[in-house]
Amino acid sequence: MKNVLVIGSTGQIGSELTMKLRNMYDGSIVAGYIPGAEPKGELLESGPAEVVNVLDGKQIAEVVKKYRIDTIYNLAALLSAVAERKPLMAWDIGLNGLLNVLEVARENNCAVFTPSSIGSFGPSTPHDNTPQDTIQRPTSMYGVTKVATELLSDYYFHKFGVDTRSVRFPGLISYTTLPGGGTTDYAVEIYYAAVKGEEFVCPIAKGTFMDMMYMPDALKAAVDIMEADPSRLVHRNSFNIASMSFAPEHVYAEICKTYPDFKMRYEVDPVRQAIADSWPDKMDDSCARKEWGWTPHYGLAGMSADMIKNLKIKLGVE
Ligand code: SER
Repeated sequence: MKNVLVIGSTGQIGSELTMKLRNMYDGSIVAGYIPGAEPKGELLESGPAEVVNVLDGKQIAEVVKKYRIDTIYNLAALLSAVAERKPLMAWDIGLNGLLNVLEVARENNCAVFTPSSIGSFGPSTPHDNTPQDTIQRPTSMYGVTKVATELLSDYYFHKFGVDTRSVRFPGLISYTTLPGGGTTDYAVEIYYAAVKGEEFVCPIAKGTFMDMMYMPDALKAAVDIMEADPSRLVHRNSFNIASMSFAPEHVYAEICKTYPDFKMRYEVDPVRQAIADSWPDKMDDSCARKEWGWTPHYGLAGMSADMIKNLKIKLGVE
């Protein structure tokens, strides 16, 4: 039996991860949310939900005690482009929020997963086959919070024995819940435009490679890392994971196999482009493969077929 609190359960990752955990485990899988982002439908009906603001340590502790929580998925964050507009809020949610979670975990013996990202790397990081252990000098506020997240999570493991583990997510692509203000969001939005029969205006320049991942693989990673045999883990916070790397013209070409008349033009957003240029083209995930058996299922073609099939149903188009 496992009792899990998902903080940020109505976000892009949380909405799907909470349902996956409820289908996997018998215990209480609590959907933590903030007012204004209430769970709805299946997410609301299939298990307990509680208001959990990551900035309120007392509130986190009360829910952890009430449900005898043993694992916390801390998914509260501002994505990279929004974080550039609201850097103080990004720091507050990313790091003061994390500190609250880690303190509650220390006092109540919980394991903690807090995602890191391709955003934890910067311009001086090797961009091709970015190693697991390498330079991390990001230039975005999002990246600054992610590097500090990794360090603080490792600190709580070494200093207090809190079982912290995480992965560096690529840009995540899903048809269920939209991402909110990330640099990689274009790779989700392009599918919506194609299925709706609209032209896509791409904010990222041709030739800009970034790691991407289909949500089912990302969810598998979030579960598998927390289930991994700790004696095999050399690293903890945080593991490179990868499944596909592409530039806008590649995802466009893949979609054109289904929608030959689909049109795309570029209108580059300088803020997002600068962030994208500073991130890896492709990460080396061999440590994750070796230490906990990471293997992705989806590549670009398999993901595209599944995205298009499911978006057609969601949007009610033929
Ligand atoms: N998807 C995130 C972003 O673009 C990266 O982790 O901000």
